[in-house]
Amino acid sequence: MDIFRTKSVEQSIQDAEGGTHRLERTLSALDLTVFGIGVIVGSGIFTLTGIAAKNYAGPSVALSFVVAAVVCALAALCYAEFASTLPVAGSAYTFAYATIGEFPAWIIGWDLMLELALGAAVVSVGWSGYFVSVVESLGVTLPVASVGGWTFNYLAVIVVLLLTWLLVTGIKMSARFNLVMVTIKVAVILLVIFAGLFFVNGANYTPFIPPAKSTEGASGLAAPLIQVLFGVTPTVFGVAGIFTAAAVVFFAYIGFDVVATAAEETRRPHRDLPIGIIASLAVCTVLYMAVSLVVVGMRHYSQLSETAPLADAFKAAGQPWLAGVISVGGISGLTTVILILMLGQSRVFFAMSRDGLLPRGLASVHPKYRTPYKITIIIGVVTAALAGFIPLSVLAEMVNIGTLFAFVVVSVGVVILRRTRPDLPRSFRMPLVPWLPALAVLACVYLMLNLAVETWVRFVVWMALGVVVYHLYSIRHSRVRSARRR
Ligand code: ALA
Repeated sequence: MDIFRTKSVEQSIQDAEGGTHRLERTLSALDLTVFGIGVIVGSGIFTLTGIAAKNYAGPSVALSFVVAAVVCALAALCYAEFASTLPVAGSAYTFAYATIGEFPAWIIGWDLMLELALGAAVVSVGWSGYFVSVVESLGVTLPVASVGGWTFNYLAVIVVLLLTWLLVTGIKMSARFNLVMVTIKVAVILLVIFAGLFFVNGANYTPFIPPAKSTEGASGLAAPLIQVLFGVTPTVFGVAGIFTAAAVVFFAYIGFDVVATAAEETRRPHRDLPIGIIASLAVCTVLYMAVSLVVVGMRHYSQLSETAPLADAFKAAGQPWLAGVISVGGISGLTTVILILMLGQSRVFFAMSRDGLLPRGLASVHPKYRTPYKITIIIGVVTAALAGFIPLSVLAEMVNIGTLFAFVVVSVGVVILRRTRPDLPRSFRMPLVPWLPALAVLACVYLMLNLAVETWVRFVVWMALGVVVYHLYSIRHSRVRSARRR
């Protein structure tokens, strides 16, 4: 069918090489790994560790991080193979266009807005929370702005707009800025691990897996889909709790896939992209396990803070200045997450408008800065508006579902491309195809089923909107389609 026409791999690469719609290749494997860590380590580890340990897993939250890491690693291998075969901007969107077809690619591009733009907005709201707490600990109270009953989060808006400006003025500068911020963030995480070791109380580790407790369960739209579908009585803690917590801390790993969106700015993408994706995920997995083990050792899981568990554990250990240092690290950590999520979003839009699925005029590159400035500015303004006005705590789950869906499509795409184009050079090959990609799909779907019914409803509505836009605009303007007609 016409809407399943694919864009050939050669065409995708050729488009990326020519004309004014071309990005500059400046990034190395190390830059990409730093990008990866920059976008992965964020509000997940700085906040969700507390929620997951306290409510679902106890000290065994460290194992939840392992479970989530395994799911992500399966998807990461798929991304690495794709990125090494098709090193052009757009990540999952481009991969889907080359394998399953234009309509699924559009759907993925639409879906990625949940991960990237919405993700950036969610994290910028978290950023403003950390900022307020640091400023307050210095004795300053910031005013609250409200417009017609809505609270206006001006701090989140300011940070998003400042980062937009940075992205418009050039990726190399952004990469350097990112390196500084990531260094601070990793230093703070290491500080938590090594300083925290001195305050660990062995008694806090027993029982490592607290006994399972049955709960009333959330009801109605707030219940996880798996519970509604299968009538499972929800329990917390126990072995099942480890898996529930894994669905929560999954958010902490979101971002390794964003490395693939910088493909066109990479000097040797065939080699550097798989390294960047896998190395950043591996580093973060080790850091997360260590941090979570230390934090649940410092403070009994039932007493962990749900908003700032790392800083709070140090406060409780009588080390307020270390807590302050950690909060400042949190701010810089979240800054890079917002920055790179927006960068990833601009690259996906760039690829979509270059293909004509979004207005092509948007894809032009700035004559001086060589960045897709129009797209970047639009994304910045939309993200700032979302962050400024919409209460995003519930919408954070949307980020998880959107990302997991993209992982599913990419995993399926790897298998399809092996069948349809076995001839393509793949500098990185995922082992055990099709079995490992199949496992990746199952693992992602399992985590998706653990998300609330209301999240599913919102997701379906958003996707339906995407279908309408495709039929009203994109299908008529697609370059692949017009090329076929000629
Ligand atoms: N992984 C990112 C975070 O934890 C999205 O904030």
